Amino acid sequence: MTSAPAPRPALDPDRIAAPDGWRVEVTEATPSTNAVVAERARAGEEEGLVVVTEHQTAGRGRLDRVWETPARTSLTFSVLLRPDVPAQDWTWLPLLTGYAVQAAVADRIPEIALKWPNDVLVEERKLAGILVERIETPTGPAAVVGVGINVSQTLDELPVALATSIELETSERVDRTGLLGQVLGSLHGLQGLLGDTASLRAAYTDVCSTLGREVDVHLPGGPDGVEVRRGEALAVDDRGALVVSTGEGTFTVGAGDVVHVRPRQ
Ligand code: BTN
Repeated sequence: MTSAPAPRPALDPDRIAAPDGWRVEVTEATPSTNAVVAERARAGEEEGLVVVTEHQTAGRGRLDRVWETPARTSLTFSVLLRPDVPAQDWTWLPLLTGYAVQAAVADRIPEIALKWPNDVLVEERKLAGILVERIETPTGPAAVVGVGINVSQTLDELPVALATSIELETSERVDRTGLLGQVLGSLHGLQGLLGDTASLRAAYTDVCSTLGREVDVHLPGGPDGVEVRRGEALAVDDRGALVVSTGEGTFTVGAGDVVHVRPRQ
């Protein structure tokens, strides 16, 4: 018999610690916070809007996947940023966001790590996902930084076997309102690293569990629409791309799906 989940309190907007200049809006339900923030950005919204929803009903994931979560079990939110850095450094934003989420949760789960580019994992179980979308707006390019963190899902409520939630990992109740403030504070505090990608690269490398591992890289192409290339993940280059070594040399992946071939020994 599966026991019923514990009561799930709503977020408390009056207690959310919003970083300086950031404006947090909480909605009861929305198909996708990324879609809401993109629309507001196109309508002229300034940097710092944060839209959080208690129940995301048609969330978007990387590589056209979906990200749906039962009401009040997660943190699902999007932040509007307008990074003032050269275009080539925008590629670091998804990695920076993963790093910021990892840093905010590390005091609760010290073994938390990143699978390139930005899946937040506990061992091989996915705890959080990130979808950063660059959009054009009348006032210039903007980034919609979407974050989904599994907080209190039970095993039955997770979409795949290789997923987890903070409460499953720690067996402790989590105050989502406090956690949201911590994650926003972490992202706000670390966003300056976009202007110092050498330091960001070093910090990211330290917490990226993909490096040194045998990986399968899934790329578009091949007769089935996907080409899988196996190799050893060597490094993250100065654009945030993954450098993979094979018997025949190295190749670089800027965007793609990476699978860790076997758990770390
Ligand atoms: C992934 O596939 O790992 C990325 C998942 C990103 C989900 C978040 S939840 C909040 C935001 N709104 C969306 O529609 N997606 C992102």
